[in-house]
Amino acid sequence: MKEQEFLDSIEDLSGKIAIVTGGAKGIGLETTIYLASKGATVYVASRKSEGTDAGIEEARRRVKATDTGKSEDSDEKIKHHELDLSSMQTAWQSAQTFKKLEQKLDILICNAGVSMTTLQKLSPDGYEEMFAVNHLGHFAFVTALLDLVKNTADTTEDGRIVFTISDAYKQAKTLDYDMLKTSKPDDGKALKDIGDAWMRYAASKLALVYSTIEFSNRLRNADLANIYLNACHPGNAIGTTLGTGNQTAVHPMMERAVRALLNVLIGNSTIDSAKTQVYLAANKSIKENSVHGENWEPAFTTFGGTYKGCAAKEYTQLGQDAEERKKLWDVTVGALRKAVGEEEIESVETLNRLINAGSE
Ligand SMILES: NC(=O)c1ccc[n+]([C@@H]2O[C@H](COP(=O)([O-])OP(=O)(O)OC[C@H]3O[C@@H](n4cnc5c(N)ncnc54)[C@H](OP(=O)(O)O)[C@@H]3O)[C@@H](O)[C@H]2O)c1
Repeated sequence: MKEQEFLDSIEDLSGKIAIVTGGAKGIGLETTIYLASKGATVYVASRKSEGTDAGIEEARRRVKATDTGKSEDSDEKIKHHELDLSSMQTAWQSAQTFKKLEQKLDILICNAGVSMTTLQKLSPDGYEEMFAVNHLGHFAFVTALLDLVKNTADTTEDGRIVFTISDAYKQAKTLDYDMLKTSKPDDGKALKDIGDAWMRYAASKLALVYSTIEFSNRLRNADLANIYLNACHPGNAIGTTLGTGNQTAVHPMMERAVRALLNVLIGNSTIDSAKTQVYLAANKSIKENSVHGENWEPAFTTFGGTYKGCAAKEYTQLGQDAEERKKLWDVTVGALRKAVGEEEIESVETLNRLINAGSE
């Protein structure tokens, strides 16, 4: 698909407010640029880590170079918002701060993620790091923002939430909560640690699959079907820094060589890997066709691996397991209660509607 063809398939987003978690780097950076170049004001929600400022500057510069960017002040259109997903409490607080800044939120893309981390310590909520950042932190951030998304969708009839999953979830086994709460001396120095880390990454993405379906069911049961919440596998953007440098059993030169080979065999560009989540967030067919709780995957050309478009893909049998999904919801709401307290949870009316809505 030609770049212009993809851009034309995305709605004019002038006047819309978007958040992209992890929006200053990798796939998130390209997502920020697409949304802002179509006119949205984009909040890059991330830590002030190395490269964050440079990523935001790059986004502003590249949006300025587009036709729409020239007429608007791109510096104002792309803003940073502090977010650390490693604790439910800090993610919740970040959302509370956001609610004081903006009266509306049209698009929320939960893109940030970590992969291949070691198991040295548990998160402040007592969980393994990938499960904590990829799933728990996003759960706290999204639920705290639900009133804002709902109030916006009451007016526009079109709220969008996207979870960036990974087809790695297909390799996950049934979630093992004891394992997810147990720190062990897995420091990345043994080859076995690599396989274990990959399986924990897969588990964190299976958790996001369950979240996608459960949230979506509950939104519809609570008469909030004007919020379109879906998930996507972005593609194989081997060129990003995701998962690099943690597993020291592999020499950095070997790691680079393996990644270079994977890039040739199955790699997609980082720009192309942003397209599916942008599509779910801003293509009008999602609303027109009432797309809820689905997993979308991109298709790429056999030679060159360039983007051809995207479509819904059925979840695996384990991904569709309703009992496992409900168990995760209960565990996660329990963790949120512990992290932020009952009073905070009660302050978000839409979250309480979802908690009471049921998911059948
Ligand atoms: N690349 C792929 O091939 C691929 C394939 C399937 C799925 N995905 C998914 O796509 C998403 C983006 O991946 P990517 O390849 O673009 O990775 P990336 O370049 O490493 O970007 C990850 C982003 O997540 C942020 N992040 C990490 N920990 C965070 C925390 N505690 N709080 C807030 N933000 C945090 C990072 O910010 P910091 O720099 O501050 O850490 C960074 O902005 C991830 O969810 C990933 O699992 C990627």
